[in-house]
This record gives sequence, C-alpha cells and structure tokens, in this order.
Amino acid sequence: MSVWAVLAAAGSGERLGADRPKAFVRLGEQPLLAESLARLDASEWIDAIVVAAPPGWEEPAILLAEELGCGKVSACVAGGPTRAESVRLGLAEVPGDAAAAVVHDAARPLLEDAVVERVLAALSEGWDGAVPALPLSDTIKRVDGDAVVETLPRDELRAVQTPQAFVADVLRGALDGSDWTDCASAVEAAGGRVKIVEGDARLVKITDAADLERVAALL
Ligand code: C5P
Repeated sequence: MSVWAVLAAAGSGERLGADRPKAFVRLGEQPLLAESLARLDASEWIDAIVVAAPPGWEEPAILLAEELGCGKVSACVAGGPTRAESVRLGLAEVPGDAAAAVVHDAARPLLEDAVVERVLAALSEGWDGAVPALPLSDTIKRVDGDAVVETLPRDELRAVQTPQAFVADVLRGALDGSDWTDCASAVEAAGGRVKIVEGDARLVKITDAADLERVAALL
C-alpha cells in the first residue's frame, strides 16, 4: 500500500514571539521543520511527503528539503488559515490511489518511526484511523468562566498527538471545511472508527520558547 505523509507546517507560531513562522524558528542548528521532515523522509513506512508550508515560505521549504536530501518530498503547498485547511490543501496533492495518509505536525519534531508503525498497523487491522495518545497526569475539569461545571473521569481521557494515520479516502471525505483541531475529530464526526495507540512522551508540541528549549535538549 502507498503511504503518503502530510506535514502540517503552516502555523504562524505567534506564541513563540519570533520574527518568522514557527516552522522556520531555529531548533539546534536547523529550522524546526527540518527535524520532522528528515525523520519522515527516513521512515521505513512513508513513501512520499507533502509539506503544507507557511504562505510565502514554500520556496524556503523546498530548498530545505533539497539541502536535507529529502527525496520523498513530492509537493510543497501554501497552507491555509487553519490547521484543518492546511491539511486539506496538502491532501489535495496526494494521489487518488494512495492507500493511507499520515498527518503530522511539524511542531512535534521528535518523531520516532515506531509511532508511525503503530498508527499504520491499526489501518491493517481494519480501523479507519489511528492516533497516538498518552494517559493524563492532571485531573481535567470542564469550566464555565471561573466556575467548575464538572470533573471528567481521568481514566477515560487521553492526550492525543500526531502522527495520525487514516485510510486516505476516509480522511479526504471527512475534511469538510470545519475547523477541526485534529484530523481524527473530523473522521470521528463522519462516523469513522479511530483507534488509540500508544503515544510517545518525546512528541512534545512546541508552542512557546520554553518548549523549544526542552526539545532542543532532547535532540
Ligand atoms: O498552532 P498549532 O501549534 O496548534 O499547530 C499545530 C500544527 O499545525 C503545527 O505544526 C502548525 O504548523 C500546523 N498548522 C498549519 N496551518 C495552520 C495552523 C497550524 O499547518 N493554519
């Protein structure tokens, strides 16, 4: 089966307070985008990659892929105003006969191939999609302003990460223009069956400067 990766890298990263989009902020010696791009390219499970770059940064993204020798990069598109829209634009470059789409956030650079293997294995078992997730250590409450409305049962909750894998046609059919925060939400809403697989604590999502320091120390 052919497996295509869509790398969502079009976020502005305002909370980092940098002079450039998050994907091009330095992580160690390279732009942040380099880490996930090189790891997807080296993955045993990925056949081709589409990058959704920050609008106006498609050229630097292509140059970076060339510099890194990422031969699996098939297209680089300008992303949209929301993550869901960036993924939809990236997915438009994935050929109709692709079997699976693996969507990953460039904001989670420390991608291990074992996680890609776990999410794809679920598709072979007949699931429409699979997401890596971790149990929560904090108790989560639903609130209304300052007031607690209810305490949610922690054992039933998971913190969900990327990469997320889907039967390519299922994901294509599910991204309907709504502003889903992750692709699995769209697939769930369309009636798809999504499996939870073991996540990876190293898949920290970089949101602010402290996250960047923490991940740089793990490189
Ligand atoms: O903004 P946030 O960190 O939640 O974004 C998660 C991922 O989605 C990041 O890798 C970011 O580059 C990507 N994204 C995107 N297009 C957007 C917003 C976010 O590709 N419009």
